[in-house]
Amino acid sequence: MDLILKNIGRLYQVARQGESRKTGLEMQDACEISHAWVGISNGKIAGLGTMDSCPDGAKVLDCAGRIVFPGYVDSHTHLIFAATREGEFVDRIRGLSYEEIARKGGGILNSARKLQLASEDELLEGAIARAWEILHMGTTTVEIKSGYGLTVKDELKMLRVARKLEAHVPLRIRRTLLGAHALPMDYREKREDFVQMVLKEMIPQAAEEGLAHFVDVFCDRGFFTVDETERIIQKGADYGLKAKIHANQLDHSGGVQVGVKNGALSVDHLECVGEAEIQALQGSATMPVLLPSAAFFLRAPYQPAREMIDAGLGVALASDYNPGSTPTGNMNFEVALACIRMRMLPQEALVAATLNGAYALDLAAECGSIEVGKSADLVITDRMESFDLIPYFFAKNQIHQVVVKGKVMGE
Ligand code: NIG
Ligand code: FE
Repeated sequence: MDLILKNIGRLYQVARQGESRKTGLEMQDACEISHAWVGISNGKIAGLGTMDSCPDGAKVLDCAGRIVFPGYVDSHTHLIFAATREGEFVDRIRGLSYEEIARKGGGILNSARKLQLASEDELLEGAIARAWEILHMGTTTVEIKSGYGLTVKDELKMLRVARKLEAHVPLRIRRTLLGAHALPMDYREKREDFVQMVLKEMIPQAAEEGLAHFVDVFCDRGFFTVDETERIIQKGADYGLKAKIHANQLDHSGGVQVGVKNGALSVDHLECVGEAEIQALQGSATMPVLLPSAAFFLRAPYQPAREMIDAGLGVALASDYNPGSTPTGNMNFEVALACIRMRMLPQEALVAATLNGAYALDLAAECGSIEVGKSADLVITDRMESFDLIPYFFAKNQIHQVVVKGKVMGE
């Protein structure tokens, strides 16, 4: 073994039987082991157990009673952007709504205007800073969407920046084409032309250049319809891109149902979810991804996580890091909001922010839990009794060290 983490006060494996996701009551079991060790070889987990079985003869990192859990898998972000939007933040304090700002050409269109003027190098510089920022807070896998380009050239530019980012930061990155994020002003009278551009140019070109793993659509009131969403995700499927959908943020939009019907990997946001949406998700392979800090920042109702889990569903938590609806990628804060405002148990939140996030990126065979053979992506916290203290001290940085693909950051 290349490295052994010894004297771990409490190890949270999250899964120990090759499960690809956890649902309902299973989410309460974060597979804890007290007084544990974890061995790493060639970037992967090579062994683990209780300290009485700890092998000798490798480089040792003494965890001295700290807790260890899998690196967070943030399955939904818009990490690449050109400018902040604090003016809109203040407008909302004064009483304007997110949708009113969007209708006036602010919001996503505001971000698009700035991004279209930025070079790849400028975008890359900002993305590198944000990627290190989230890595130091415990995220080891992240999904990044386009969606602030809104032209073929600029959407592809964003995806290229996301691809280049991998050479600068050791995060595992998945890229999503979100060409249908908002309708540009000059397409207001000809929305079908924009949809055709997504179908006939963005999707084929992004897929042929190998720039995207997934396709996404903002299926909601004032953005894209269920019918447009279905056509776009079916076209994505023709090109081998699975779907992840922005659904039910602003309304009961039908986004959840169209996602489930078309086998989407995930449906994300879900502030507006009731019985019908929960029923649609039951028995499906689609992961609901909840973005609590988006609800927090926009003063929207929190996603009904408790009802969803009690109905037997699995849920994932993600940050939605973006300049408009949630300018943070701190997964510890998502966990805290999920516990405090959505009544998720800390163990459920941990499962949601790791294994179930990996499922929402089709990566559960590779990361999201501490199991032999998976990538050695680990978070080592300050000294503490249990993971419960992560959401409890909701505004404190308690991440001591992060290990990505077997490498200890900062060493
Ligand atoms: O996930 N809801 C749609 N898209 C992003 C926000 C985009 C923005 O406001 O810049 C979201 O919240
Ligand atoms: Fe989003």
